[in-house]
Amino acid sequence: MELSHLILNNESEVRKNFNRLSNDKKVYVETYGCQMNFSDTEIVLSVLSKNGYNETSDIEESDVILLNTCSIRENAENRIYSRLGDLIKYKKRNPDLVIGILGCMAERLRKDLLQKKKIVDIIVGPDEYRKVPELIENSVEKGEKGIAVKLSRTETYDDITPLRREGITAWLSIMRGCDKFCSFCVVPFTRGRERSRSFINITEESKRLYDEGVRDIWLLGQNVNSYKYEEYDFADLLKNVAAAVPGMRVRYITSHPYDLSDKLLETMAEYDNICKYIHLPIQSGSDRILKLMNRLYSVKEYMRVMLKAREMMPGIGLSTDIISCFPGETDDEHKMTLDVIREIEYDSAFTFVYSPRENTKAFEMTDTLDEETKKQRLDEIITLQREISFKINSALTGSVMPVLVETLSKKSEDNFMGRTDCNKSVIIPRNFSSVDMSGNLINTGFIKAGELINVEITGANSATLFGNPVRKNETLSKS
Ligand code: SAH
Ligand code: SF4
Ligand code: F3S
Repeated sequence: MELSHLILNNESEVRKNFNRLSNDKKVYVETYGCQMNFSDTEIVLSVLSKNGYNETSDIEESDVILLNTCSIRENAENRIYSRLGDLIKYKKRNPDLVIGILGCMAERLRKDLLQKKKIVDIIVGPDEYRKVPELIENSVEKGEKGIAVKLSRTETYDDITPLRREGITAWLSIMRGCDKFCSFCVVPFTRGRERSRSFINITEESKRLYDEGVRDIWLLGQNVNSYKYEEYDFADLLKNVAAAVPGMRVRYITSHPYDLSDKLLETMAEYDNICKYIHLPIQSGSDRILKLMNRLYSVKEYMRVMLKAREMMPGIGLSTDIISCFPGETDDEHKMTLDVIREIEYDSAFTFVYSPRENTKAFEMTDTLDEETKKQRLDEIITLQREISFKINSALTGSVMPVLVETLSKKSEDNFMGRTDCNKSVIIPRNFSSVDMSGNLINTGFIKAGELINVEITGANSATLFGNPVRKNETLSKS
């Protein structure tokens, strides 16, 4: 099948190694939370593969089950508690099964997990993944409960090649941790202090990924704009990567409005292969609430950056995160958030109801809003954003846009999913034929992952575009 040639050489190296060392232990991993966690899972799998563990997608045959967890909101943690309940049956069937909690919950709820959740054998925080094999072994051989949750000021896993799944998209962690301490957020506590990976190594890894068939990389960090390595900042890094791999589409996530510099916008505008897309969480449209959130910018400053981005890069995709119902948010302040959404007209927005998190500053603030009001405010934001997204997407109908073909569509093997430069997903038929105005066949063929093709947009909903290939243009695929 088409995708087979895209298996990463490096990954196959790791896989080969791993087969040689295999002790036939099978590990099953479920990942929750943000892209950083997904990227971390690839690091854990790489560490495990060097110690003879094989990944399995079949939980029934696993010797080790790992849940890489998220603590960002209460419901993220509840999901894991309920999942642990489901896992009891596997442990009953196989008492030697090792169950591990990785990620942000391991960091935040270590005691609770160890004392109250008897089925958990190992607990490993985000900076201690090198210890996972040793902790598993101690659990199997000595029946020891293992816990490793120290946060590091230096760990970036710079020397570990993540065990990536085949595909044309790859995540590349460039920094870890967060020093912003927004008053509502657990991340500075679960991920520790900011630290950045080597400038040279990130660039070299991007080049290697290109040679291995990857055509789309996401530079990842909790706050990529805080990237700092020697004299280089994030704009320098982005420029260097974009110039080193001109055939690679380069994107990044997430940025904090406080340090999104004009230099970064200029770099984005300068390079065709840097995706014209910014995800910039605003959180609230009220300056008073932003201050209480410790977000370090005003609505006016935020708008200046977004409008400048649009002016410099017309058609750029803009998205955001919003926290509705922060403690003490008034109805007027809620309306201010709606106003900003109307004014900016985001392509999309991720909206959450504020969730109190122990040990954060906001946890001390009194939450006065009732559940009905919370639901109503959230609904209003979601409905408004949906209308705007639908309007923007519908206006693209009839236009022709370059689309990088990524994977088979989740819903049907007859379709591929690709993305535009401004990060909109487009569903395209896998086999296509098109006719000109007189009914003559002008184009027919198959689409492959990794190709950049021109697509005529034929339909849209608020989340997705639908289209047909018009003609093949430059291909990013090596074969
Ligand atoms: N580092 C990123 C955010 C990571 S968390 C940034 O600052 O942009 C992703 C989103 O989760 C945040 O942007 C915020 O909107 C939401 N979030 C974080 N803590 C939350 C909480 N306590 N309650 C509700 N939403 C929260
Ligand atoms: Fe959390 Fe704020 Fe850091 Fe984002 S910038 S991870 S919201 S503390
Ligand atoms: Fe969740 Fe941790 Fe990411 S709390 S959002 S998995 S950094």
